[in-house]
Amino acid sequence: MQKRTHYCGGFRMADVGTDAVLCGWVQKQRDIGSLIFIDLRDRTGICQVVFEEETISREYFDLAFSLRSEYVVCVTGKIRERSNKNPNIPTGDVELLASSVTLLSKAQTPPFEIVENSDVNDNLRLQYRYLDLRRPDMQRKIMLRHRISKIARDYYDENGFLEIETPMLQKSTPEGARDYLVPSRVKNGSFYALPQSPQLYKQILMISGFDRYFQIARCFRDEDLRADRQPEFTQIDVEMSFVDADDVMTANEGFIKRVFKEVLNVELSTPFLRMPYREAMERFGSDKPDTRFGFELKNISEIVKNCGFGVFKGAIEAGGSVRAINVKGYADKISRKEIDSLGEYVKTYRAKGLAWMKVTRDGISSPIAKFLSDDERAAILSAMDAGENDLLLFVADKDKVVFDALGALRCEVARRLDILDANTYNFLWVTEFPLLEFDEEEGRYVAMHHPFTAPMDEDVEFLDSDPGRVRAKAYDIVLNGVELGGGSIRIFREEMQEKMFSVIGLSKETAAERFGFLLEAFKYGAPPHGGMAYGLDRLVMLMTGSQSIRDVIAFPKVQNASELMSGAPDTVDEKQLDELGIAIIKREATSEQ
Ligand code: AMO
Ligand code: AMP
Repeated sequence: MQKRTHYCGGFRMADVGTDAVLCGWVQKQRDIGSLIFIDLRDRTGICQVVFEEETISREYFDLAFSLRSEYVVCVTGKIRERSNKNPNIPTGDVELLASSVTLLSKAQTPPFEIVENSDVNDNLRLQYRYLDLRRPDMQRKIMLRHRISKIARDYYDENGFLEIETPMLQKSTPEGARDYLVPSRVKNGSFYALPQSPQLYKQILMISGFDRYFQIARCFRDEDLRADRQPEFTQIDVEMSFVDADDVMTANEGFIKRVFKEVLNVELSTPFLRMPYREAMERFGSDKPDTRFGFELKNISEIVKNCGFGVFKGAIEAGGSVRAINVKGYADKISRKEIDSLGEYVKTYRAKGLAWMKVTRDGISSPIAKFLSDDERAAILSAMDAGENDLLLFVADKDKVVFDALGALRCEVARRLDILDANTYNFLWVTEFPLLEFDEEEGRYVAMHHPFTAPMDEDVEFLDSDPGRVRAKAYDIVLNGVELGGGSIRIFREEMQEKMFSVIGLSKETAAERFGFLLEAFKYGAPPHGGMAYGLDRLVMLMTGSQSIRDVIAFPKVQNASELMSGAPDTVDEKQLDELGIAIIKREATSEQ
């Protein structure tokens, strides 16, 4: 076999006359008597190859005749101008006139056609992932992922960050998602945990003096999967010493600016908008607001607190609020039936209903108008800046439910109206997150980000008296409604770390047992430090316009965390279990298994 000289996808008119040896997969073959054409595909694209009965030996012509889709071949020939040009592909002006061909591998008929964006069942795609990954759109995504990682390495390296690997086999620490555990053979009954993130090691690296660290780090979390979550995922993980929150945000948004310019040729203006958590909730009902459109929330509790509509009045009396969004200019695009369906939609966010008001040329149309006085109606219209053809949607409940429901509703309405521009990239830092949130189930406060996050200096005094009010030096970066990354300035003094553990109800003993090494390290000169992590998979997902994170991971897992091609997870030999000192207790199969 001859050695490949070129990839398929690069040939243009300027290459006419070039001798070339190409290797790849047969996309399709067609014969028209004395001519046989194959479209030859590799990761760079497609090149048409032509076999002419009169210029090639019989043996090769017959072989070309026998080629089928997905056969692997090596073809030798010369590039020439095509008589019948194809403007739809980049190499469409030229073709390779073959002088010989070698069959390297035959192929069965694949279970689905290897073409761009074909509509194939997801599980079938994943079972035959090697074929799915041959599709040009998938190849582009995986190659783009490589470029993004490469730019990350270049950017952080050029800015003085050192790439340092941290262990995959770690000690299990509480306070995160569920761990993936790895049993120890040498110490039966003990387990390593796979890292949920390199958090503690990167902080320790700061104490060691590596004042700027980064790592493209694999993380593992045994949590419920969603379209933007995988049990195994990758972070671009960063930590810096002697910095404040602003320094961390500035250093890391520089990476985003660079990667968008180099990969998408999009010029982003920095610094990105910064918005305190409280404002994000009040205006958008979400800590990861999509700011590509309006429909912002307004609190109308003051106006309706004494109104005749029991639902509104009752919610306010119970300590909640009434808030609304104005779907401005779209009242005629949203039918009564559609509003009913939106009412069902908000119920999935535990709202009890959705009240509405349309402003038409003839006045207000609304099932709740009759419960409101003229003054109240006028005040609502004015507060909501409502005019003709506006639709107001109201939810009354506890604040949390109102925010969740309206926050999700404004995005859902925008999706249904199809007004989301995929080419607009609205980045935003959400800052000043609450340090703690009350976990009703556990009956205690838990860290909103993680328990190593520092409280804001001006709020430290409330740690005992009013923990829920303390804000953190924490920040998330959000792109078009997706949380792309997050981080914080860390606690770096032992007393404050112990205080934090005690506020979240971790006993001194548990804290010492689980985090003793960190507390101990703080005794030996810890620099102030902070950092963050980007979700690489999410970044690639958004930059490639993919609907699911699975499309940008070569071998992703499905809903029940299994990998369909290899069949992981799977049972293991008795002998392996025996060495690990593990016996399996058989349980009734659950519906998930
Ligand atoms: P956090 O838990 O916010 O922070 O994670 C950082 C980013 O990682 C991505 N991410 C995920 N991506 C895919 N699948 C998942 N299951 C998943 N979970 C998280 C998100 C998220 O914003 N150690 C801290 C960072 C720090 O404080 O420096 C951390 O892990 O994009
Ligand atoms: P009802 O009086 O329960 O029939 O409700 C009248 C209207 O108010 C309906 O359109 C309901 O969807 C709506 N509604 C009910 N509960 C709420 C609520 N908590 N917030 C907003 N609207 C509600």
